Amino acid sequence: MKINDSEFEGRVVMVTGAAGGIGQAMAEAFCARGATVVLTDRSEAVHETAGKLGPRHRAFVMDVCDEAGIAATVRAAEETLGRIDALVNNAGIGILAPAESLTSEVWDRHMDVNLKGAFLVARAVAAGMLVRGYGRIVNIASQAAIIGIEGHVAYCASKAGLLGMTRCMALEWAPRGVTVNAISPTVVETDLALVGWAGEKGERARAAIPTRRFAQPWEIAAAACFLAGEGAAMINGENMLVDGGYTVI
Ligand SMILES: NC(=O)c1ccc[n+]([C@@H]2O[C@H](COP(=O)([O-])OP(=O)(O)OC[C@H]3O[C@@H](n4cnc5c(N)ncnc54)[C@H](O)[C@@H]3O)[C@@H](O)[C@H]2O)c1
Repeated sequence: MKINDSEFEGRVVMVTGAAGGIGQAMAEAFCARGATVVLTDRSEAVHETAGKLGPRHRAFVMDVCDEAGIAATVRAAEETLGRIDALVNNAGIGILAPAESLTSEVWDRHMDVNLKGAFLVARAVAAGMLVRGYGRIVNIASQAAIIGIEGHVAYCASKAGLLGMTRCMALEWAPRGVTVNAISPTVVETDLALVGWAGEKGERARAAIPTRRFAQPWEIAAAACFLAGEGAAMINGENMLVDGGYTVI
């Protein structure tokens, strides 16, 4: 794919859950388009991931459930880089179990990381964006936000909630220059997803997608770059499906 390598020059983009998987692909994509990237993750591995991108980028160990840690990270990023122009709320978990046996601890963990975590980071980053009158926020939801998937009760509920949050923030913040959108991928071929969708289960799932394949991490990153870029300035409160048409009925 041909990349406009200067679209994000001079822009600072924060990505949560950036140590690996889709978040790492996001960080690489924004970097390739000229951005300075603030990579955050609860895992120390985020330092190594950021190191591969080059010296202008920053890495912070930040748990999206830790309000004080989020405040400290946002403050440190804004102090060293001047501001945060775009945020990708990508950190997320998925623990599968049938609805009748899913524990309340696992339910709460999904809400804490996938939903409240995204809220806490968006609120912290938006504070500066609203003062400056410019910002782009992209929340990584899932096709599970709009359809039921067996074994995904807590995951589906948390991602559906993320879409509700996206719409409210979009309404409240766009008049002050901050757009908020979501991306809902189908299965994305990260190391973790490939384990869960291996073998016959994976073949059946691929066959049910009109494009007959899962998504690649860079395809979700490309959508995030679009929504965070100038071409998407009029897109607000949208949920962009990157699912090969799986949810088309
Ligand atoms: N892979 C898929 O098939 C798929 C499909 C649809 C949506 N998604 C969503 O995309 C996002 C990224 O998924 P992925 O497949 O790259 O997963 P992944 O597990 O490979 O990466 C998630 C990252 O988030 C980090 N993280 C988890 N909990 C955190 C916390 N409390 N605070 C900070 N960081 C935390 C992890 O350390 C990890 O680096 C998630 O929100 C996921 O729900 C993934």
